[in-house]
Amino acid sequence: MIRVRKIAHASYEMPDPEKQIEYYTEILGLSLVERNNDAAYLASTVDHHSVVLRRGSEARCTRVGFEIAEDDDLGAFEKQVQEQGIKTQRKNDPEPTIAEMVTFADPKGTTMEVFKRGAFSGQRFQNKGIVPHKLGHVAFHVTEVKKVTDFYCDVLGFRVSDWMADFFSFLRCGPDHHTINLMETGSNRHFHTAFELRDWGHLQTACDYLSLNGYKLLWGPGRHGIGHNLFAYHRSPNGLITELFAELDRMNEELGYFEPRPWHRDRPQRPKVWAKDPSASNLWGILPGEEMMK
Ligand SMILES: [Fe+2]
Repeated sequence: MIRVRKIAHASYEMPDPEKQIEYYTEILGLSLVERNNDAAYLASTVDHHSVVLRRGSEARCTRVGFEIAEDDDLGAFEKQVQEQGIKTQRKNDPEPTIAEMVTFADPKGTTMEVFKRGAFSGQRFQNKGIVPHKLGHVAFHVTEVKKVTDFYCDVLGFRVSDWMADFFSFLRCGPDHHTINLMETGSNRHFHTAFELRDWGHLQTACDYLSLNGYKLLWGPGRHGIGHNLFAYHRSPNGLITELFAELDRMNEELGYFEPRPWHRDRPQRPKVWAKDPSASNLWGILPGEEMMK
Protein backbone atom coordinates (compact mmCIF):
# COMPACT_ATOMS: atom_id res chain seq x y z
CA MET A 1 0.00 0.00 0.00
CA ILE A 2 1.02 3.62 -0.44
CA ARG A 3 1.61 5.09 3.01
CA VAL A 4 1.76 8.73 4.01
CA ARG A 5 5.34 9.46 5.13
CA LYS A 6 5.22 12.69 7.09
CA ILE A 7 2.88 15.19 8.70
CA ALA A 8 3.17 18.44 6.75
CA HIS A 9 0.73 20.88 8.32
CA ALA A 10 -2.32 21.31 10.48
CA SER A 11 -5.14 23.80 9.80
CA TYR A 12 -7.24 25.47 12.46
CA GLU A 13 -10.28 27.68 12.77
CA MET A 14 -10.72 30.11 15.63
CA PRO A 15 -12.64 33.25 16.58
CA ASP A 16 -9.52 35.45 16.71
CA PRO A 17 -6.87 34.42 14.17
CA GLU A 18 -5.03 37.75 14.64
CA LYS A 19 -4.20 36.87 18.23
CA GLN A 20 -3.11 33.40 17.16
CA ILE A 21 -0.86 34.79 14.40
CA GLU A 22 0.79 37.03 16.99
CA TYR A 23 1.28 34.03 19.31
CA TYR A 24 2.71 31.84 16.54
CA THR A 25 5.11 34.51 15.28
CA GLU A 26 6.15 36.30 18.49
CA ILE A 27 6.05 33.43 21.00
CA LEU A 28 6.48 30.15 19.10
CA GLY A 29 8.72 31.78 16.49
CA LEU A 30 7.14 30.51 13.27
CA SER A 31 7.38 32.81 10.23
CA LEU A 32 4.26 34.25 8.65
CA VAL A 33 5.02 33.29 5.04
CA GLU A 34 1.78 34.09 3.29
CA ARG A 35 -1.58 35.67 3.94
CA ASN A 36 -4.71 36.11 1.93
CA ASN A 37 -8.36 36.86 2.66
CA ASP A 38 -8.96 33.22 3.50
CA ALA A 39 -5.99 32.07 5.55
CA ALA A 40 -2.63 32.80 7.19
CA TYR A 41 0.25 30.39 6.50
CA LEU A 42 2.99 29.91 9.07
CA ALA A 43 6.24 28.04 8.48
CA SER A 44 8.86 26.45 10.65
CA THR A 45 10.90 24.25 8.35
CA VAL A 46 11.22 22.83 4.81
CA ASP A 47 7.44 22.87 4.56
CA HIS A 48 6.04 26.05 3.07
CA HIS A 49 3.55 25.99 5.92
CA SER A 50 3.27 23.96 9.11
CA VAL A 51 0.23 25.78 10.45
CA VAL A 52 -2.74 27.35 8.64
CA LEU A 53 -5.13 29.66 10.49
CA ARG A 54 -8.65 30.65 9.47
CA ARG A 55 -11.48 32.50 11.16
CA GLY A 56 -14.27 30.30 12.56
CA SER A 57 -16.84 30.27 15.31
CA GLU A 58 -14.84 27.99 17.60
CA ALA A 59 -11.21 26.95 18.04
CA ARG A 60 -10.70 23.59 16.38
CA CYS A 61 -8.37 21.64 14.13
CA THR A 62 -10.16 21.22 10.82
CA ARG A 63 -7.57 19.59 8.54
CA VAL A 64 -4.26 17.75 8.73
CA GLY A 65 -1.88 17.57 5.76
CA PHE A 66 0.33 14.56 5.00
CA GLU A 67 2.98 13.93 2.38
CA ILE A 68 3.43 10.82 0.29
CA ALA A 69 6.87 10.01 -1.16
CA GLU A 70 8.23 11.63 -4.32
CA ASP A 71 7.98 8.41 -6.31
CA ASP A 72 4.48 7.54 -5.06
CA ASP A 73 1.56 8.15 -7.39
CA LEU A 74 -1.15 10.43 -6.02
CA GLY A 75 -3.76 8.92 -8.35
CA ALA A 76 -2.93 5.42 -7.13
CA PHE A 77 -3.17 6.66 -3.54
CA GLU A 78 -6.59 8.16 -4.25
CA LYS A 79 -7.75 4.87 -5.74
CA GLN A 80 -6.49 2.99 -2.71
CA VAL A 81 -8.54 5.29 -0.44
CA GLN A 82 -11.65 4.89 -2.61
CA GLU A 83 -11.27 1.10 -2.46
CA GLN A 84 -11.91 1.39 1.28
CA GLY A 85 -15.31 2.92 0.45
CA ILE A 86 -14.21 6.47 1.23
CA LYS A 87 -15.27 9.44 -0.85
CA THR A 88 -12.34 11.58 -2.02
CA GLN A 89 -11.92 14.94 -3.72
CA ARG A 90 -9.10 16.00 -6.02
CA LYS A 91 -7.97 19.64 -5.77
CA ASN A 92 -5.61 21.60 -7.98
CA ASP A 93 -3.52 24.41 -6.48
CA PRO A 94 -5.45 24.26 -3.19
CA GLU A 95 -2.72 25.90 -1.09
CA PRO A 96 0.53 27.75 -1.78
CA THR A 97 3.25 25.40 -3.20
CA ILE A 98 0.83 22.42 -3.33
CA ALA A 99 -0.06 21.57 -6.93
CA GLU A 100 -2.41 18.65 -6.36
CA MET A 101 -4.12 17.27 -3.31
CA VAL A 102 -6.44 14.39 -2.44
CA THR A 103 -8.80 15.16 0.42
CA PHE A 104 -11.22 13.03 2.40
CA ALA A 105 -12.67 13.00 5.90
CA ASP A 106 -11.50 10.78 8.75
CA PRO A 107 -14.24 9.14 10.88
CA LYS A 108 -14.35 12.06 13.35
CA GLY A 109 -14.77 14.63 10.57
CA THR A 110 -11.24 16.04 10.26
CA THR A 111 -10.19 16.59 6.63
CA MET A 112 -7.13 14.64 5.49
CA GLU A 113 -5.06 16.48 2.88
CA VAL A 114 -2.60 14.21 1.09
CA PHE A 115 -0.11 15.52 -1.44
CA LYS A 116 3.46 15.47 -2.71
CA ARG A 117 5.94 18.05 -1.56
CA GLY A 118 6.37 21.03 -3.87
CA ALA A 119 9.63 22.82 -4.52
CA PHE A 120 11.28 24.54 -1.57
CA SER A 121 10.12 28.12 -1.66
CA GLY A 122 12.86 29.75 0.39
CA GLN A 123 11.17 30.21 3.78
CA ARG A 124 13.60 30.58 6.67
CA PHE A 125 13.65 29.77 10.35
CA GLN A 126 12.91 32.92 12.33
CA ASN A 127 15.42 34.30 14.83
CA LYS A 128 12.92 35.44 17.45
CA GLY A 129 10.64 33.42 19.67
CA ILE A 130 11.01 29.73 20.55
CA VAL A 131 11.62 28.50 16.94
CA PRO A 132 10.74 24.78 16.99
CA HIS A 133 12.37 22.35 14.57
CA LYS A 134 9.01 21.24 13.23
CA LEU A 135 5.38 20.37 13.75
CA GLY A 136 5.59 17.01 15.52
CA HIS A 137 2.11 15.64 16.13
CA VAL A 138 -1.55 16.45 16.56
CA ALA A 139 -3.51 14.70 19.31
CA PHE A 140 -7.29 14.34 19.34
CA HIS A 141 -10.02 13.41 21.78
CA VAL A 142 -12.19 10.80 20.05
CA THR A 143 -15.38 8.93 20.81
CA GLU A 144 -14.34 5.71 19.03
CA VAL A 145 -10.60 5.20 19.37
CA LYS A 146 -10.48 1.73 17.80
CA LYS A 147 -12.38 2.83 14.70
CA VAL A 148 -10.30 5.99 14.15
CA THR A 149 -7.02 4.13 14.83
CA ASP A 150 -7.96 1.48 12.24
CA PHE A 151 -8.76 4.24 9.75
CA TYR A 152 -5.31 5.86 10.11
CA CYS A 153 -3.63 2.45 9.73
CA ASP A 154 -5.77 0.99 6.93
CA VAL A 155 -6.38 4.12 4.82
CA LEU A 156 -3.27 6.27 5.43
CA GLY A 157 -0.76 3.52 6.25
CA PHE A 158 0.07 4.51 9.82
CA ARG A 159 1.58 1.99 12.25
CA VAL A 160 0.70 1.63 15.91
CA SER A 161 3.65 2.59 18.13
CA ASP A 162 1.96 2.08 21.50
CA TRP A 163 -1.40 1.87 23.24
CA MET A 164 -2.20 3.04 26.74
CA ALA A 165 -4.60 0.29 27.85
CA ASP A 166 -7.45 0.29 25.28
CA PHE A 167 -8.24 4.00 25.18
CA PHE A 168 -5.17 5.92 23.91
CA SER A 169 -3.29 5.08 20.69
CA PHE A 170 0.01 6.54 19.42
CA LEU A 171 0.51 6.24 15.65
CA ARG A 172 3.53 6.84 13.45
CA CYS A 173 3.96 7.50 9.73
CA GLY A 174 7.75 7.85 9.81
CA PRO A 175 10.56 7.35 12.33
CA ASP A 176 8.99 9.59 15.02
CA HIS A 177 7.14 7.57 17.69
CA HIS A 178 3.88 9.39 17.04
CA THR A 179 2.49 11.85 14.51
CA ILE A 180 -1.17 11.33 15.43
CA ASN A 181 -2.46 10.24 18.82
CA LEU A 182 -6.02 9.45 19.73
CA MET A 183 -7.53 9.39 23.20
CA GLU A 184 -11.05 8.09 23.79
CA THR A 185 -12.84 10.52 26.08
CA GLY A 186 -16.42 10.86 24.85
CA SER A 187 -16.02 13.77 22.42
CA ASN A 188 -14.36 14.45 19.08
CA ARG A 189 -12.08 17.48 19.36
CA HIS A 190 -8.53 18.74 19.29
CA PHE A 191 -6.44 17.73 22.31
CA HIS A 192 -3.04 19.32 21.60
CA THR A 193 -0.62 20.25 18.85
CA ALA A 194 3.04 19.48 19.50
CA PHE A 195 6.21 21.11 18.20
CA GLU A 196 9.68 19.60 18.45
CA LEU A 197 12.46 21.51 20.19
CA ARG A 198 16.19 20.75 20.06
CA ASP A 199 16.77 19.42 23.57
CA TRP A 200 16.23 19.96 27.30
CA GLY A 201 18.11 23.28 27.19
CA HIS A 202 15.82 24.56 24.47
CA LEU A 203 12.80 23.41 26.50
CA GLN A 204 14.06 25.36 29.53
CA THR A 205 14.61 28.49 27.44
CA ALA A 206 11.12 28.04 25.98
CA CYS A 207 9.48 27.68 29.43
CA ASP A 208 11.25 30.85 30.65
CA TYR A 209 10.25 32.71 27.50
CA LEU A 210 6.63 31.58 27.88
CA SER A 211 6.63 32.71 31.51
CA LEU A 212 8.15 36.13 30.66
CA ASN A 213 5.32 36.56 28.17
CA GLY A 214 2.55 35.55 30.55
CA TYR A 215 2.05 31.93 29.49
CA LYS A 216 1.85 29.47 32.39
CA LEU A 217 2.47 25.77 31.95
CA LEU A 218 -0.53 23.44 32.20
CA TRP A 219 1.63 20.37 32.79
CA GLY A 220 5.35 19.63 32.86
CA PRO A 221 8.17 19.76 32.31
CA GLY A 222 8.28 15.99 32.58
CA ARG A 223 9.15 12.90 30.58
CA HIS A 224 6.32 10.85 29.13
CA GLY A 225 6.58 7.06 29.52
CA ILE A 226 4.94 6.39 26.16
CA GLY A 227 7.21 7.94 23.52
CA HIS A 228 9.70 9.01 26.24
CA ASN A 229 9.61 12.65 25.10
CA LEU A 230 10.42 15.52 27.43
CA PHE A 231 7.27 17.66 27.46
CA ALA A 232 5.72 20.93 28.62
CA TYR A 233 2.14 21.99 27.79
CA HIS A 234 0.55 25.45 27.70
CA ARG A 235 -2.62 26.97 26.29
CA SER A 236 -2.49 29.28 23.27
CA PRO A 237 -4.65 32.44 22.99
CA ASN A 238 -7.69 30.82 21.33
CA GLY A 239 -7.68 28.00 23.88
CA LEU A 240 -5.90 25.29 21.88
CA ILE A 241 -3.22 23.43 23.84
CA THR A 242 0.38 23.47 22.57
CA GLU A 243 2.96 20.88 23.62
CA LEU A 244 6.67 21.53 23.29
CA PHE A 245 8.75 18.36 23.30
CA ALA A 246 12.23 16.92 22.75
CA GLU A 247 13.85 13.47 22.71
CA LEU A 248 10.81 11.64 21.32
CA ASP A 249 11.51 7.95 20.64
CA ARG A 250 12.51 7.16 17.07
CA MET A 251 11.69 3.83 15.45
CA ASN A 252 14.22 1.68 13.61
CA GLU A 253 11.68 0.11 11.27
CA GLU A 254 14.08 -2.62 10.04
CA LEU A 255 14.73 -3.84 13.58
CA GLY A 256 11.25 -3.21 14.96
CA TYR A 257 12.30 -1.34 18.06
CA PHE A 258 12.92 2.23 19.17
CA GLU A 259 16.48 3.56 19.26
CA PRO A 260 17.80 2.56 22.70
CA ARG A 261 17.90 5.26 25.38
CA PRO A 262 19.06 5.18 29.02
CA TRP A 263 15.58 6.10 30.26
CA HIS A 264 13.92 3.09 28.60
CA ARG A 265 12.68 0.27 30.90
CA ASP A 266 12.34 -2.32 28.13
CA ARG A 267 15.48 -3.46 26.32
CA PRO A 268 14.83 -3.17 23.51
CA GLN A 269 11.83 -0.83 23.66
CA ARG A 270 9.24 -2.28 21.28
CA PRO A 271 5.69 -1.18 20.49
CA LYS A 272 3.35 -2.54 23.17
CA VAL A 273 0.22 -1.99 25.22
CA TRP A 274 1.12 0.00 28.33
CA ALA A 275 -0.84 -0.46 31.53
CA LYS A 276 -2.84 2.57 32.62
CA ASP A 277 -0.16 3.48 35.10
CA PRO A 278 0.99 7.02 36.09
CA SER A 279 4.49 6.31 34.75
CA ALA A 280 3.05 5.76 31.25
CA SER A 281 2.04 9.44 31.40
CA ASN A 282 5.03 10.85 33.25
CA LEU A 283 8.07 8.85 34.32
CA TRP A 284 9.00 11.73 36.65
CA GLY A 285 5.75 11.32 38.56
CA ILE A 286 3.63 14.48 38.32
CA LEU A 287 0.24 13.84 36.73
CA PRO A 288 -1.81 16.38 34.75
CA GLY A 289 -4.44 18.51 36.44
CA GLU A 290 -8.04 18.93 35.27
CA GLU A 291 -7.04 21.95 33.18
CA MET A 292 -5.33 19.60 30.68
CA MET A 293 -8.64 17.90 29.89
CA LYS A 294 -10.62 21.10 29.19
FE1 LIG B 1 1.77 15.00 22.67
